[in-house]
Amino acid sequence: MPVTVKPLDAPLGAEIIGLDARNITPQDSKTIFDAFLKYHILILHDQKLTDAELVEFGKCLGPIEKSRVISPLSGRDDIMVISNIREDGKPLGQLPDGEMSFHFDRIHQKQPCKGAALMALEIPQEGGDTLFANMVAAYAALPDDLKKKIEGRTALNTFTYGATSPDKREGAGPQCEHPVVRTIPETGEKSLYVCRLMTDRINGLDPQESRAILDQLCDHAENPRFVYQHKWKVGDIVVWDNRATQHARTDFSENERRLMKRVTIGDNQPPIH
Ligand code: OGA
Ligand code: MN
Repeated sequence: MPVTVKPLDAPLGAEIIGLDARNITPQDSKTIFDAFLKYHILILHDQKLTDAELVEFGKCLGPIEKSRVISPLSGRDDIMVISNIREDGKPLGQLPDGEMSFHFDRIHQKQPCKGAALMALEIPQEGGDTLFANMVAAYAALPDDLKKKIEGRTALNTFTYGATSPDKREGAGPQCEHPVVRTIPETGEKSLYVCRLMTDRINGLDPQESRAILDQLCDHAENPRFVYQHKWKVGDIVVWDNRATQHARTDFSENERRLMKRVTIGDNQPPIH
């Protein structure tokens, strides 16, 4: 059966239909990468991949970046386990609990990751949805005066280990400055590149103005008109372009298990204006 790409009835995203992610031809790889650029997130259903197969699948989008932590639920350094499953009270995965604010992955790195593929293995009955916001559409919809205000500027982004919302951040972790608006090299599209969780200030503005503009930009970016909310089913894989989208997570009960595995796709260049 030929692979088809079916756009979602949403502000971004497409479903990839008729593909077994364990068995990708060079032609499928091209279909997937073209759809990744066009729709910014891709959804596959009913996939049953081993960790090794998930890593192989990720390679059709680019080089795989290592996880910071090796989880006993995988044992591999190229699989990031996202889970609230605990042993003796200690989480066996990363990002274990509940709601997470909007963010770009690894924006504190000089060369943040290009994307990721996340697969659901166990999901709670309710909540734990992942929200994806289209930053190409968000940038395009900004009023001209705001576009002018941020043109050519950079912002400081900070990673705080384990923090899931801006008010839970304590102390500064690794930091990096990046363009406030970045251009996606393959398409020339411009994408808004600030987020609630990690962006601290816009350089060259006084602190009050920087705060006010960041709040305005984040409110705009998170507007439901740019957002698709993914309700997971076991066997779903969602792939996101981490340059053109940011994501967040809704709350879920600590009494239910959630187990996800992720491969992280590296980039070959830092963000450009
Ligand atoms: C991630 C992430 C959200 C989720 O993998 O980077 O933010 O739904 N995950 O667990
Ligand atoms: Mn994330």
